[in-house]
Amino acid sequence: MADLDRESVTREALAQMAATPDPRLREIMAAATRHLHAFAQEVNLKPDEWLAGIAFLTAVGQACTPFRQEYILLSDVLGLSRLVNLMHDAEGREAAGTETSLLGPFFREQAPEFALGESIAVHDTGGTEIVIFGRVTDSEGRPLPGAEIDIWQTNAAGLYDLQAGDATVMDMRGRFRADAEGRFHMRTVKPIGYSIPLDGPVGKFVKQQNRHGMRPAHIHILVAVPGHRELVTALYFGDDPNIDSDTVFGVSHSLVVREAMGLPGAPRADLPAVQYDFRLSRLGAGDGGGRVGSDPSKLMPAAE
Ligand code: BEZ
Ligand code: FE
Repeated sequence: MADLDRESVTREALAQMAATPDPRLREIMAAATRHLHAFAQEVNLKPDEWLAGIAFLTAVGQACTPFRQEYILLSDVLGLSRLVNLMHDAEGREAAGTETSLLGPFFREQAPEFALGESIAVHDTGGTEIVIFGRVTDSEGRPLPGAEIDIWQTNAAGLYDLQAGDATVMDMRGRFRADAEGRFHMRTVKPIGYSIPLDGPVGKFVKQQNRHGMRPAHIHILVAVPGHRELVTALYFGDDPNIDSDTVFGVSHSLVVREAMGLPGAPRADLPAVQYDFRLSRLGAGDGGGRVGSDPSKLMPAAE
């Protein structure tokens, strides 16, 4: 048995993990261990600081429920979700394909289905009504008929259904099917910018850093067509004061929109409209797909 020092303890930990049969797990755990040890050495981590870190991660886990995902929120405010998104895009998004954005912690599967033109604001109808319309095509502009379009957003008070009242009631979200020419249109209310949830451990962490915790107003969109790469994105409203300082780093120029009256082709002349065409990339060889996010209920540990 060799006495360990601050260098050899890292080597020893890596050596014990070296027999991990799954090669990808072995690679990830070895890199995580090396970086974690290097981080502790860089800041000369003290026992009370180490314990505060353990307490923080414990609190983050305890804040998770079928309706709340505090770990995704942590990943988001650290910029890690955006980084994984960017790397995922670099590996399979075609240049002309619509840019992606964060799925965020408020996505839910099985949102209600609507016919084209209907409004997703069913229970909570306050706010300015707007129309969103456009086409779903492949990266060369060929229409993708029947594309499934899932949209979700906050109400006009800046709350998702998961935060407003009864979390089991779905509102301000819905699924639509594009028509035979890939065209879609739906009604909603103009969202406002909102604060990420600041009432938990991640909120405390963000406040300790003097960050405002806001996200600029946006609408989440997920577009799925068999044979194409699933598109997880969002449209951001350019008039939001926090458009350049999103707490979770989700905004790209190409995703910034403004609503306007009188747009050519707008399905309703009486309402402001946002026009946006979504271009899906082909599913490439070796492209495993994957979402940077999940319905929170799917991440709960299985009952023993
Ligand atoms: C969201 O856009 O829903 C969101 C994303 C990251 C953190 C909090 C909220
Ligand atoms: Fe959001």
